[in-house]
Amino acid sequence: MMSTVDELCEALEVWRCYFQAPDIEDASAHTPPWEPLKLRLEAAVEAARGVQWAQEEAGRTRICWLLAEAGDALAVLAFSPPQQAVDVASGRTLQGPAAAACSFNCVVCGSGSTVGGYSLPKAIGLSGSLLYRFALGWQHLVVAGGRELRLCVQAFGSDDDEERSTKAHPTARYCGEQCSHADWRASHRRVCAELAAERHMSLISDIPQWKALADHVAAVKETHLKDLLQDDARTEAMIREEGGVYLDFCRQNATPETLKLLLDLGEAAGLKGKIEAMFAGQRINATEGRAVLHTALRAPRGADVQEGGRNVVPEVWEVLDKISAFTERVRSGEWKGATGKPLTNVVSIGIGGSALGPLFVHTALSTEPDAMAAASGRRLSFLANVDPVDTVRALHGLDAETTLVVIVSKTFTTAETMLNARTARAWLTERLGADAVAKHMVAVSTNLKAVADFGLDPANAFGFWDWVGGRFSVSSAVGVLPLSLHYGFPVMERFLQGMHAMDTHYRSAPLADNLPALLGLLNVWNSTFLGHATTALLPYQQALQHFAPHIQQLSMESNGKGVALDGTPLPFETGEIDFGEPGTNGQHSFYQLIHQGRVIPAEFIGVVRSQQEVYLQGEKVSSHEELMCNFFAQPDALACGKDAETLRAEGVPDQLVTHKTFSGNRPSLSILLPELNAYTLGQLLSLYEHRVATSGFVWGINSFDQWGVELGKVLANKVRGKVAEARATGRPLGADDGFCSSTSRLLNRFLESKPQAPQAGAPHNFPPGLRQ
Ligand code: F6P
Repeated sequence: MMSTVDELCEALEVWRCYFQAPDIEDASAHTPPWEPLKLRLEAAVEAARGVQWAQEEAGRTRICWLLAEAGDALAVLAFSPPQQAVDVASGRTLQGPAAAACSFNCVVCGSGSTVGGYSLPKAIGLSGSLLYRFALGWQHLVVAGGRELRLCVQAFGSDDDEERSTKAHPTARYCGEQCSHADWRASHRRVCAELAAERHMSLISDIPQWKALADHVAAVKETHLKDLLQDDARTEAMIREEGGVYLDFCRQNATPETLKLLLDLGEAAGLKGKIEAMFAGQRINATEGRAVLHTALRAPRGADVQEGGRNVVPEVWEVLDKISAFTERVRSGEWKGATGKPLTNVVSIGIGGSALGPLFVHTALSTEPDAMAAASGRRLSFLANVDPVDTVRALHGLDAETTLVVIVSKTFTTAETMLNARTARAWLTERLGADAVAKHMVAVSTNLKAVADFGLDPANAFGFWDWVGGRFSVSSAVGVLPLSLHYGFPVMERFLQGMHAMDTHYRSAPLADNLPALLGLLNVWNSTFLGHATTALLPYQQALQHFAPHIQQLSMESNGKGVALDGTPLPFETGEIDFGEPGTNGQHSFYQLIHQGRVIPAEFIGVVRSQQEVYLQGEKVSSHEELMCNFFAQPDALACGKDAETLRAEGVPDQLVTHKTFSGNRPSLSILLPELNAYTLGQLLSLYEHRVATSGFVWGINSFDQWGVELGKVLANKVRGKVAEARATGRPLGADDGFCSSTSRLLNRFLESKPQAPQAGAPHNFPPGLRQ
């Protein structure tokens, strides 16, 4: 019975997401996963038939009865007692009557009978359908709490339905009491008005805590960091440490009052509740109807993380155990290639989240002594771009006999990855024959059917789940398989433990001491309130060379959104632009701009003990200390600057004074790690994953979908078809092909200037770098 209830709740939740907007009139115009949703709901309803609902609880009995009475329908009351009730729209943790109301998730369905005049199948396809109204009612049931019975009635309360109902039932029961339809109508209108007001208040920018921060900006703009830094009590209040990770944010344009107001905003945004909802497996990725459980990927073996009514940790560990066993076989040479040679080279093919995170971790560990020793004699490379230049770069010089290709794709449909995978397969089979694929190619995906269709043995596939977002998938098989092949599973297990340690801190620490929460709140402060569009990520550690590119995807794909969770356009900007480069290289590149040009909040990351030490006799400091001197100097240069008076006192000629002046007051924060190893790297990555989630939770957006990447993909498909057609027919593209004239001209220019391009059906053509 529980699974039926869960199914119903899930289906309803997804419905709710698509039907919240009051102006949705034509439901069928909402193409996203419309058909699957419909099927899911129908299946859930089907499964619910004949279930005997326990009715011992007075309130539940009453609602059941009320619905049946009002609509002459089969009423199904799904009861799912949440451990902690969280209003999914606002993230507020609900208590008391509101929490009790949250326990009632209702779905109304007709088993051939009707609800308010509409049968269920009709309602599903209907514009402005009853189900929409009902879903809306359910949402408000949760939001408004305490008013649950009235709101259930409201679910039936469209004027249309009401008229029909009035005819069928001269009186209705309202909150268990007999009442006239006139009273009901009046009550319904009042509730609707209240809900409309409440709906307007659902934007975070409408709440008083947001306004208090907005008002506070002017006071902060009066301050200068060179003065603020004189206040030791303030400094003390802006330093935190967790598990050896030291965070100093006293160089933020912020006072203790700012911090207090930010924490108030975090509370008001329901941050704790939202964090808990994420860890507890609630489907907070509402537009895709998915849980967001990357934290389960690094949960210890014995943990219990529920998703859809089952503990997912055993499945996570089943895959990790499979990775451990497989990678050990490959690394030990027991798993041999088609010609009997051990596989010492790994090429990981994937793009976006299926490449950036693993590449970042690989680079970070490649100079760490233990990991380096474990990887001795092995090579791991990544192929992401569909650009054949990248293909040559990744495969050139590799011996196919000793190469294992890992295809990494959550969907196993990404055009770039699949073409690269087919290229690698052709490269392998040309050299070793078709049978070699079984020994030389493995896959990581949630789409195991597509893996099998590609021709790979399911035994060589490593799964993960739809509740892992691509950019949050480093700790799934996406990262753990290729990295374990290279460094060995024990190294990656340390990495997972480091992530878990920071996860635990994020879930349990109060906001005021919570490192990821503080980073996320400060990010909201800088980007939204102070209006700094960009953040510079500046690791003073060459091993973190690929940190910024990974965080770029993590942050910008997550938080680059324009609407709130409920689809309301946002009146403020979300999602900062992230970029970065390791110090000191960046200093000789773009620091000019961040010192004297635009104000760009900077995040400095330093390491106490270097992975590698070089000291030259006679030098004042070691090479790593030289690096770190810059790490300590830059934040003060940005914060304190240098004024004209000081420059004049130093004898700077008048005409150069303004050129040499540093305004200072440029915000930064500093993170210091004891060293960079697999464990601390895990802590750092988890810190940033949760920083990103925190900002998104506060902004009230869905940080876990990425609809913004879809349009370009669709148009690229169209272009592909037209390019192939134009090649085959020799006909230039024109107005009938559906492109604007600019695009047609560009395409024709490309097609005309590239006569050597192969026709479809021509034999494989590899560039010299990939020929045998
Ligand atoms: O660019 C969009 C995206 O879907 C990313 O979110 C994802 O990381 C990447 O493409 C790769 O997707 P997949 O792992 O399914 O190949």
